[in-house]
Formats: sequence, structure tokens, C-alpha cells
Amino acid sequence: MSRVFVTRELLGRAHRMIGYALGPWNIEAYPEDRVIPREDLLKGVAGADAILCMLTERMNAEVFDAAGPQLRCVSNFAVGYDNIDIPEATRRGIAVFNTPDVLTETTADLAWALILGVQRRMLDAESYLREGKWTSWSPRLLLGRDVHGKTLGIFGLGRIGRATARRAQGFNMRVLYHNRTRLVEDEEKSLGISCVDKATLLAESDIISIHCPMTPETKHSFSTGEFQQMKKTAVLVNTARGPIVDEVALAEALHAGTLAGAGIDVFEKEPTIHPRLLEAPNALLLPHVGSATEETRAAMAELAAENLIAYMTHGDTKNCVNRTGLS
Ligand code: DGY
Repeated sequence: MSRVFVTRELLGRAHRMIGYALGPWNIEAYPEDRVIPREDLLKGVAGADAILCMLTERMNAEVFDAAGPQLRCVSNFAVGYDNIDIPEATRRGIAVFNTPDVLTETTADLAWALILGVQRRMLDAESYLREGKWTSWSPRLLLGRDVHGKTLGIFGLGRIGRATARRAQGFNMRVLYHNRTRLVEDEEKSLGISCVDKATLLAESDIISIHCPMTPETKHSFSTGEFQQMKKTAVLVNTARGPIVDEVALAEALHAGTLAGAGIDVFEKEPTIHPRLLEAPNALLLPHVGSATEETRAAMAELAAENLIAYMTHGDTKNCVNRTGLS
């Protein structure tokens, strides 16, 4: 009999799916729709064989110890899993799962909402209207910058990076990418993208959209030095993870006019945002809603449940991120 602890109420059919597969009496879920307090998490996981958690929980040795040595599976309700200490989980033989694919298109949509929102100054324009400042059409009113025909730089060409690049074809853009590995030529051709080094991406892009995972190597990939290499008219968009961008350096670059704008959905210390960034000009800031549609969040919940069930019942490791380290 497996005991499952779920750290937050799940959407769609996910809770019922686990109950049906493993027995409804074996699931306990934190009953409130808020981040579970750490002490409740540590108590709740005691004796669990599997945990379904959110990206807001740090899953580390403390949690694994609190659960006990029978813990076999941690299923994350997110594609990013930088909230989980993977080496520690692997050392203990705990399989860790994520939710790829189901949120790819939705997150790419949001990256594009930010690109368009910042380039066309949608927030400034909307506030201007609501504040009753609009008295007439004017040739100089709220001028933004074009998106079509510009150069888009994709930093990190995984699934979401590709989906973001694909959308650029409709805007007749030149698309550059920088990634750890290069795509084969045919794939580059079909996406209409060119591989460049980071310096070229920084120097030539009008808009840079970040899509790499957060790892110790990618932390602060964008800081003062990078902003200085970008065009003064350039815009930075981040829907990946906050710490990939040095938030203070970004705020200073926007205040100084080194960068023209930023569309940011993820922050270094969520939900806290550096006050300089909150005050920065032409910054469109969203509360980590890249995958936040009804359809996608339900699909993520169901995939997180499926991953957990498949592993606990059949040892199936599809979507297991530390499969190779498990013996
Ligand atoms: C993820 O899945 O990693 C997103 O940040 C939340 O949708």
C-alpha cells in the first residue's frame, strides 16, 4: 500500500486519478489553496511513499528525511525542477518527475504576449486611457516599436524556445538562437533559425527571449555585462526562471536606458520583486503565469498524477528527470 502526499489541491481529474489507482484512503492533500507552510509540509510527508509537489516547495534533504526512507517518488507540478535537490534525491534512490510538453505552447504564447506588450507599450497605453488622459488621436502618441521584421534572439532552444521561435515566422522575423547543443541543419531550416554565439545573440537581437533551464551554470546569464552588449533599443523577455537574470542589474539597465524594455514573468525571489525593478520604466511584470490557462494547468495536474501513478504501479520512468542516476 502506497501513501501519497499532495502539497496543494489539484485541478481537474488529478486527485481522483491517484485515488482510483492507489486507493482514495492513501492520499492526503494539504487542504488549502496556498503555499503549504514548511512545518505542515514536513509533518504531511511523514511516511509518504510518493509526494506530488509544487514549484513553490523546496524539496531537499530536510523533506526527504521528514518523509522517511520509504519515499520513492517526487512528482513536480512543473516542467522546471530547480526547486528539487536532484543529486540528493538520486543519492537516495528517489525518482523525480516533471511535466514537459503539456505547457509548451501556452508558455510560448505568454512569451509572445510579453514581446508584443512591451514593444507596443500596451501597459502605458492602457493606463493612459483609464487615467482619462486621452483627448485625441495624435501622431506622436505612445509610440512603441515594431515586432515584425525585427531580429528575435532565443536563449535556450528546448521545447518552449522552439515553440516561441516558430511563432516568429508569422511575424516575418529573423531568428537567432544560442543553445548548449546545435540543432541539425534540417531542423534549423524548418524553423528558419540560425545558431550564433552568445555575443552575437546579444549584439544583433532586437528582442531576446529566455528559455533555458535554471542551473548553477545559467544563473545570472543576463547581468550588467550582457545588457551593455545589447542594443539600447532591445527588449528582454523572461518566462523561464528568475535567477537566470540578475534582477538588480536589469532594473539598473532599464533605469539607465541601457535596455529599452523588459517583459518578465519570473523573478529571483518570488513573490518578492526588487523595488528598483517595480519602479523601472517599460517593464511589464507578471506573477509567474506562463502556463496559467485552465486547459494547461489541468493537463499539468493530470500529467503529474500520471507520472506518479505509472512509477508507483509499474516503475515506469517516462518524464523521470533523474532516470540515469537511479540504480
Ligand atoms: C514550470 O512548469 O516550470 C512553470 O514555471 C510553471 O508552469
